[in-house]
Amino acid sequence: MKNRLFIGAVILLFIGILAAGLASCDIYSEDKEFEKIDYVIGVSQANMRESWRLVSTNEIKEEADKYSDISLIITDATSSTEKQKKDIQKLLEYGIDLLIVSPWDVKEMTPIISEVYQKIPVIVMDRAVEGYDYTLYIGPDNETIGRQAGEEILQLLPGKAGTVLELSGSEYSQSSMDRSKGFQGVVEEYPQIVLIQNRVESATRDDTEELILRQKDALGEIDAIFAHNDYMARGASMALQQLGYHIPIIGIDGFIGENNGVSMVQNDTIAATITCPTGGKEAIQNAMDILNHVSGVPKQIILRSHKVTTKNVEAYIDNLGQTTLPNEDIIDVGYSQLGTESAWRLANTASIKEAARDAGINLIYEDADQSQEKQIEAIRKFIDLKVDVIVLSPVVDTGWEIVLQEAKEAGIPVILSDRKISVEVDDLFTTYLGADFPEEGRNAMRWILENVPSDTKEVSIIELQGTLGASPATGRKNGFEEILSQHPSYHIVYSKTGNFTFEGGKEIIEEYLSGHEWDIDVIFAHNDDMALGAIKALEDSGIKPGVDVKIVSVDGTKEAFQAIIKGKSNCTVECTPLLGPQLMKAIKDLMSGKELPLRIITAGKIYTKEEALKSLKGRKY
Ligand code: AHR
Repeated sequence: MKNRLFIGAVILLFIGILAAGLASCDIYSEDKEFEKIDYVIGVSQANMRESWRLVSTNEIKEEADKYSDISLIITDATSSTEKQKKDIQKLLEYGIDLLIVSPWDVKEMTPIISEVYQKIPVIVMDRAVEGYDYTLYIGPDNETIGRQAGEEILQLLPGKAGTVLELSGSEYSQSSMDRSKGFQGVVEEYPQIVLIQNRVESATRDDTEELILRQKDALGEIDAIFAHNDYMARGASMALQQLGYHIPIIGIDGFIGENNGVSMVQNDTIAATITCPTGGKEAIQNAMDILNHVSGVPKQIILRSHKVTTKNVEAYIDNLGQTTLPNEDIIDVGYSQLGTESAWRLANTASIKEAARDAGINLIYEDADQSQEKQIEAIRKFIDLKVDVIVLSPVVDTGWEIVLQEAKEAGIPVILSDRKISVEVDDLFTTYLGADFPEEGRNAMRWILENVPSDTKEVSIIELQGTLGASPATGRKNGFEEILSQHPSYHIVYSKTGNFTFEGGKEIIEEYLSGHEWDIDVIFAHNDDMALGAIKALEDSGIKPGVDVKIVSVDGTKEAFQAIIKGKSNCTVECTPLLGPQLMKAIKDLMSGKELPLRIITAGKIYTKEEALKSLKGRKY
């Protein structure tokens, strides 16, 4: 640890300040035996005014208290970006070993967070900054939270008809926007539901109470209220009580304790709350893993939220208290891999097998050879074998409900590895571990915008799609088109599936060449194998890949690096197949009773010639 004596002095200084009772002091540090401290963690909190952030800060403190070898210095940015930048500067001067930051203004804070990340590990909480310049992001999925609230509102409206009042937060709040999006996505499906939206800029209890009191004449027509947090829900309920109305309310946050969401559900003040975990505990646990160089720390952890209703509130509370005894037995894991179609897939299987061996986990491996039926059969076999956990890399994203329901009924948790599935209910799987596919597609298109100008000529693109219905193919396509649609001089002129294989990529280009004059500027391949197949087809017909046509693909395999270095391809967006260590960590966490996040997302860089040259030697796949 650098600057140890200096930090010691700082810690003691702040203890002094606190002891002097300066209640308005905006820096907190704790009283721990200095000699035992190995690491100092700086926490830059956006403010200590919002109740959710207070809970988050307390959770960080409580978790940190469990470790005698770390000390915290916490700063309060008082909702000011300028102050938050200065706070972080100060924390760096104190020689912190890791920064946890909950940014106030995400856009404004992005550059300083990137800068800090060049020096020490950074954990970003709650609001995601742009790009991947941080060690780890931890936050909730606000759109899912909104969707869950929408599903609960439907339960409150007989015949799925009625008038709903949505009380949202500030128009500048991304979380509020995302919650609305998820919520409205559900209720808009029902034409008999009328939605009235009201904003409470401060998102506080008092302002909500006042707003409802002011609107007393309109309340007669309201059948249910959705408030964007439990404090607003409480404000609404206090107003309704004064006015003598009984309208069911749904809130968000789901904290335990008097007047918080869960207690309000328990005593019927509100009908339901959707939990929005702060991630404070996870921030410290992961900080320790990062500082101790534990393998398997992901890039993003998206936390899971639960619906707490009058029907399940008691069970929810009982579950919270429950701890599972550490499993001393060997853990049996049934692993259904989808196939062997690409270099990526082979590296993925090897990583998982190797990590299982290293972790002492018994892995029962089944290769489905691209067949969903075989995967379903394998899952049923794992259920019969009574394995502890099932890991599924699904070939396509639909059609899993029945078999996953069978696993759920058998009490066997399912982890999704690499690919996602789309199911109505999120509790058919415990977590998803893999990449952010839409972001990979966006990155590919961003590279094209920067490297293939459209000022003299419209740009024509061939898209080589992965397996239709597979989440990486859909995600990459959607992300790519999202950016493409903002640039009218770029066009996808030909798009076919090559099933993520070398042969598939080759055939698409041969087919195109057989019916067209070559007039293509860019090939966007959903994976490297298809790009390599395309390169072969182009060379066979005398077109220079990488020169006559630019090529951008996804995966970041050694073979793609070699093609880029030789000038035959131009860019590959990394999607790591090396999921083994993170998967084993998730399995062990699960078996020791921890709740897994909704999604665990891996990081990916962009490789062009320069980076490929630097990284080829140590490349593991
Ligand atoms: O699901 C990940 C994708 O599947 C990889 O990008 C591709 O190469 C693989 O076959």
